[in-house]
Order: sequence, then C-alpha cells, then structure tokens
Amino acid sequence: MTKKLLVLPGDGIGPEIVAEAVKVLDALRQAFGLAVELERGLIGGAAYDATGHPLPEATLDLARAADAVLLGAVGGPKWESLDISVRPEKGLLGIRAALELFANLRPAVLYPQLASASTLKAEVVSGLDIMIVRELTGGIYFGKPRGVRTLAGGERQGYNTLIYSESEIRRIGKVAFEIAMQRDRRVTSVDKANVLECTELWREVMQTLAADYPQVDLSHMYVDNAAMQLVRAPKQFDVVVTGNMFGDILSDAAAMLTGSIGMLPSASLDEQNKGMYEPIHGSAPDIAGQQVANPLATILSVAMLLRYSLGEQMLAQRIENAVQRVLELGLRTADIYSEGCQRVSTGQMGDAVVAALLEQSR
Ligand code: IPM
Ligand code: MG
Repeated sequence: MTKKLLVLPGDGIGPEIVAEAVKVLDALRQAFGLAVELERGLIGGAAYDATGHPLPEATLDLARAADAVLLGAVGGPKWESLDISVRPEKGLLGIRAALELFANLRPAVLYPQLASASTLKAEVVSGLDIMIVRELTGGIYFGKPRGVRTLAGGERQGYNTLIYSESEIRRIGKVAFEIAMQRDRRVTSVDKANVLECTELWREVMQTLAADYPQVDLSHMYVDNAAMQLVRAPKQFDVVVTGNMFGDILSDAAAMLTGSIGMLPSASLDEQNKGMYEPIHGSAPDIAGQQVANPLATILSVAMLLRYSLGEQMLAQRIENAVQRVLELGLRTADIYSEGCQRVSTGQMGDAVVAALLEQSR
C-alpha cells in the first residue's frame, strides 16, 4: 500500500535541505520501489505569511492523514517581532503537541570520517553513539501558568511552569528503556532532583520503571553534570532520557561532538510510532538561499522515517550507507569542511547521496 508523507519545508534553509531529502525519496521510489506519495504543506513563518497563522488547520489535517511527516526548520528574524502566539516556533510546538509526539529521539553518532571535524579531540569522540530521548510535549515548554504579568508596583514579571505528571514520565521512560534493550542496555536519566521537586518525581518514576527492565542499568545524573560529562567523556553514555528543556539543550551539545549540528536527524513519535522527522538544527536564516547548508541531517531524518514509521529497515540502512560513502569520498559542505576535502553545495551533496544510493542498486 502506498504510504503518504507530508513534507513541510518551513523557513530559512528548510526548503533547500528538504529538496535534497525529497531527491533521496524520489531515488528510493524509482530504484527500490518505495511506495510513497508526497504532499506539501505550510508551517512556520512561511505559513504565517500565507495564512496569518504558523500552523494552519489545513496543515494539521494533512499531518493527521499522513503516515509520517518530514519537516525542514522554522523561524527567522523576519518573524521575531511577532506576538509569541503566532511566531514560527509556535507552529512547530503546536504540531508536536497536536500529534502527541511525546518521544523525541536524537541520536548523536560520530561518522569516523568526521572525527577531525569535531572541536573535541578525536579520541574523545571516535566511536561515539548516544541516543538522547527527549520528552517533547510537556515540561516547561507547555506548562501553565505562563506569561508576563505586571505587578502592583508596575514592574513586569515573567513566569513559566515546569510540570510533569507520573504518566508522562513513565511513557517517555518506557521508550528509553525499550530503546536501551536494543542497544547497550544502559539508561542515564538526567534531572535536577537536588533542586526541583518536579524532577525529584521524575527520578522516582524512572527508578520504579527500572524494575520492569532488570537487564537495563539505570543511572541518574544532574543536568549540570550531564552537560559537563557530555564534553568530558561522552562515550560513557548509551541512552540519555530527560525532559523537554534539558533535552533541547543537551542535544545541541551532543550534536557538536559529532562535528556539526548539520549531521543530526531526529524522530518525534507518538504512542503508535507515527512520527515527524526533522534535523535537530534550526532554520539558519543567515545562510538561507545560498546553497551552503548541510542537507545530511534531513536526509538522515528520512532514514529514521523509513525505519520507525514505515518499517523499511533495509532502505533506511541504504541511506545511512550512502551518507557514509559520500563522506568517505571526501565530500563536505562548509560546516564539516576540513583541509584536503572537496567542498560541495547543498544540491551537490544531495546529488552525491543519490548517486551513492543508486550505486547500491547495481
Ligand atoms: C529543537 C528546537 C525547537 C525546540 C525550537 C525551534 C522551538 O530548538 O527542536 O530543538 O526548542 O524544541
Ligand atoms: Mg533545540
């Protein structure tokens, strides 16, 4: 049966990098018989410009009808002065919430060819393979009350709420433990239980859950220490599970271990493994339209989409192999460029991945 994919290019470099991912999907259709049908929708600033809202109802309808969603990135200076309720980021947060995509998987894998692109010493990062499991539809990102209020004396005060219920903690914990069972069977739960009651509960629930997974080794780490350990000795981690905001921050740090944030894909899944797939980087408005952005994170997001939402493990592996191949060939976009390599544009990188894919069909 033909599967439906919704493609949401978004803003900034979004359209450019998504175009390369679509090339890859087209190649899979033509050379490997992948049965998918693509539809396009608007999100973020592009949606705001066209409809006055960063997440139009039409986009949500398409997303609900699709088997999976591929997203580029949202946001840019053009929309920064808008009211927070209609900013591009609200479109992204809105679609995550509406589709109940509570489980955000952010693998940080170092491709051996890029060991020297990391700002850390090669021996610290070589062989790195971490999976960050970030809770995506709760915590301080969505907690109420929130806002900016004016106090009696006229001074303004901003406030947000960090909030997690036991069931929310348990379901993200389960995802982490299940993934750990397929990997090295180690879970590090990151919290700030020495200060925040909410994450004290987080720790307690994780501990209780661990009893259901006797083969998995659970440890706990405070977020400040986790940030330090990530750059000190990142290979100590297998699966990291944490809340929305800590996960946002730690995954950017983890990305740099791999050489560039331009390399990291992500999957955001609901209870049924329906998902949205996007690079973890942003819309990079400063380089938008210049064909210098790295499309590999988006292309690798397609691999995750095939693996988690379409059950196409083989094709997912083929994409990952093709990415390895282009790196072996020495092709580099600006963000991962190093001496002696060949600098390529966004489009050339996409074409090279497609060529490497087609090579595998022969
Ligand atoms: C991410 C991004 C988003 C987030 C922004 C754009 C709202 O930083 O996906 O990591 O904070 O979740
Ligand atoms: Mg982020």
